[in-house]
Amino acid sequence: MMKRCLYVALLAMMVAGPVHAASPKNGAKLYNVHCASCHGMQGRAEMPGVPDFKRHGLFKPDATLVNLVERGSRAMPAYRGLLSREEILDILAYIRSFY
Ligand code: HEC
Repeated sequence: MMKRCLYVALLAMMVAGPVHAASPKNGAKLYNVHCASCHGMQGRAEMPGVPDFKRHGLFKPDATLVNLVERGSRAMPAYRGLLSREEILDILAYIRSFY
């Protein structure tokens, strides 16, 4: 039984990958280059239809948000291949400092 638990834990770690300590500082640089044109320098949306990070924050789990940024959504472009998952996590950490 113990052995099976260990196996499951190992598998979970392999799927999740190494834990990334997000850097909001690195996120700020990337955000200003890639995201601020629509989402605004301080997260205040620059155009209609863009969620306002100052008001509504990020409530979805990180994995969901990373997938959204990688795939794009409606007017938002896809960033897969442009930004790594780690870079996207850095940006999310920075966005969370807006509210
Ligand atoms: C061309 C404009 C544009 C750019 C550039 C842009 N976005 Fe967006 N973003 C949008 C729009 C529009 C939506 C709403 C999409 C929808 O309604 O499906 C959105 C939605 C989001 C959401 C979902 C918010 C939520 O709570 O559901 C996140 C997170 C997000 N953007 C992050 C980013 C990040 C990070 C970048 C830079 C890497 C970025 N966006 C660049 C236009 C943009």
